[in-house]
Amino acid sequence: MSASIFDISGKVVAITGAAGGIGLAVCKQLGTSGATIVMSDINESALMAGKAELEKLGAKVDTFVCDTSIEKSVISYFDYISKKYGQADILVNNAAAGIHTPPQDTTLEEWNRVLTISLTGYFLCAREFSKLLLTAKKPGVVVNIASIAGSSAIGRGNFAYSTAKGGVIQFTRELAIEWAKSKIRVNAIQPCSVNTPGWRHWVETEGEKAKPLMDLLLRGIPLGRVAEPEDIAAAVHFLASDAAAMITGSILPVDGGNLAYNAGGTLGDY
Ligand SMILES: NC(=O)c1ccc[n+]([C@@H]2O[C@H](COP(=O)([O-])OP(=O)(O)OC[C@H]3O[C@@H](n4cnc5c(N)ncnc54)[C@H](O)[C@@H]3O)[C@@H](O)[C@H]2O)c1
Repeated sequence: MSASIFDISGKVVAITGAAGGIGLAVCKQLGTSGATIVMSDINESALMAGKAELEKLGAKVDTFVCDTSIEKSVISYFDYISKKYGQADILVNNAAAGIHTPPQDTTLEEWNRVLTISLTGYFLCAREFSKLLLTAKKPGVVVNIASIAGSSAIGRGNFAYSTAKGGVIQFTRELAIEWAKSKIRVNAIQPCSVNTPGWRHWVETEGEKAKPLMDLLLRGIPLGRVAEPEDIAAAVHFLASDAAAMITGSILPVDGGNLAYNAGGTLGDY
């Protein structure tokens, strides 16, 4: 086996929520590996800042302002890709939203907002992405960013988010089966906590509870640290490349062992 199985040069990448955190790290990883990145995000100024960062690294970058919760906006994004590039080869479904509200206090509006961005948006993008590939009879890859919260309950008012992520996991398996014959591979990644600006902001807003919260989070991660955005980007690169040619319908934790760890305790002192 040679390093060329990881080669993604010349591929066109569609990615949502590309302007910050994990999305931007994925853009940097794939963009500096020779792919053309059509970054999309709802936040135009952050998108332009992200584009400038990538261009400094020598990546080929294009941008499109897209709100994944709005069907028309997603259709326009893939229309743009179709007209300019024919199709995208790789889709990274990444944009998501969460709330930290106990179930009994969650309004229907909040529930719908979380589900629409974090699950329906993934469906709309995958649907439009697949139409272009199926018409062109070309292979492709979808990588869905899920979360460990899709397989294990994390509490703390995350239930709408976790429900959406659970949906993303089963959605991944269904699409993998639906599109296997057309050589469109579909996989998902389950990060644990990732050291993004948004995540850091959330921890900081806990005030004096921030330290016990971090201790709690770290106790659940056998490798002893939260993930860096680059850890997730590396896994996306692997799944998007021919190194993963036989992998579809898989759900890959990038979580330092968090999901493997029995919450009752299999490590450490007691
Ligand atoms: N950060 C973590 O700890 C963590 C852990 C597990 C899973 N994840 C998942 O990783 C992915 C990225 O997370 P992150 O922490 O980098 O997020 P983030 O909040 O830092 O960035 C999300 C990006 O999505 C954009 N966005 C928000 N709503 C949008 C919409 N409707 N349409 C298009 N773009 C929109 C935002 O502008 C932002 O640039 C998400 O799917 C998240 O659920 C994150």
